[in-house]
Amino acid sequence: MKAMLCKEYGPPESLVFEEIECPPLGKGQVRIAVKAAGVNFPDSLVIQGQYQFKPDLPFSPGAEASGDVTEVGVEVTTVKVGDRVVWFSISGGYAEEIVAEQSDVMPISDSMDYETAAGMFLTYGTSYHALLQRAKIQPGETLLVLGAAGGVGLAAVDIGRALGAKVIAAASTDEKLELATQYGAEMTINYSTEDIKNRTKELTGGKGVDVIYDPVGGELFEQSLRAIAPKGRMLVIGFASGVIPKLPVNLVLLKDCQVVGVFWGQFTKREPEVNAQNIRDLVRMVEDGTLTPLISKTYPLEKAVDALNEVLARKVVGKVVLTTG
Ligand SMILES: NC(=O)c1ccc[n+]([C@@H]2O[C@H](COP(=O)([O-])OP(=O)(O)OC[C@H]3O[C@@H](n4cnc5c(N)ncnc54)[C@H](OP(=O)(O)O)[C@@H]3O)[C@@H](O)[C@H]2O)c1
Repeated sequence: MKAMLCKEYGPPESLVFEEIECPPLGKGQVRIAVKAAGVNFPDSLVIQGQYQFKPDLPFSPGAEASGDVTEVGVEVTTVKVGDRVVWFSISGGYAEEIVAEQSDVMPISDSMDYETAAGMFLTYGTSYHALLQRAKIQPGETLLVLGAAGGVGLAAVDIGRALGAKVIAAASTDEKLELATQYGAEMTINYSTEDIKNRTKELTGGKGVDVIYDPVGGELFEQSLRAIAPKGRMLVIGFASGVIPKLPVNLVLLKDCQVVGVFWGQFTKREPEVNAQNIRDLVRMVEDGTLTPLISKTYPLEKAVDALNEVLARKVVGKVVLTTG
């Protein structure tokens, strides 16, 4: 089979597309013929050795994929040969085939296409968990989403609206904000041209915002935290800007707010039952049209470098997905 391989840590250009041996199947493992693989910002960190987990070299990046089960090992009980499935883990998705642990694989219905399945669960799973279990967001509360047209950001806009929040989308261009508006944002802030703190205060009649969803970090973190409402929840999602912000803790006291960390990957392992229910909720909401994950572009697997560079250049809206032809 062919796979994109990271043989040494480095930028996307250091990936190589090569023919490799198909690994044998072990106990409790499942072989998946990959149809589509989601591309996520964290993939760019994993290949540079800058993520929380460092897979052993060489490895294929890619944390989510969809495809068909072609073989099952002994003691596999949850899926069978021929099932359409989705898989998520830390790495291994940018390949024609995956040997997966059965606990990382879930069947998908015939109505969900492979591209949507490969591109939605990591971002929608993260944003749903963040808003529901971590922020405990309530209908009518205000939700400020930074990076609102990106992978997790657009998912947070879509889910926030579905949960009854009043969404304020914040992003770097008017085109991105237009997309967030189509996804249900009622108010927008262009943080390239507007001061996020003052504008958030203005849009909330001086009260401040109840929940902030921040996958960007950098200066925007503190600037937006200064516009949080009493009892507000600031969700720490990620640092796409490349800068991990430092927090003056007196702000948390003065604002009477909570700063809440979110680590979806760890949550899926620690609380698999809750995660499984979240995934069932998301599938139902996609199937009944409540949520509409955006796959804005697909690339053939061998063009993974181009796809990752689009992400790093802030050009992607929603998600991009690799396909195996
Ligand atoms: N905590 C978790 O469990 C979890 C799960 C998944 C992802 N994440 C993290 O969430 C962050 C976003 O991931 P994603 O897959 O949604 O990424 P994405 O699709 O690339 O979106 C990130 C957004 O951040 C903004 N941004 C600002 N500076 C940027 C820069 N230098 N490079 C790229 N984007 C920049 C961009 O919006 P503007 O142009 O509008 O500013 C972009 O749309 C990452 O840090 C990722 O590691 C965390």
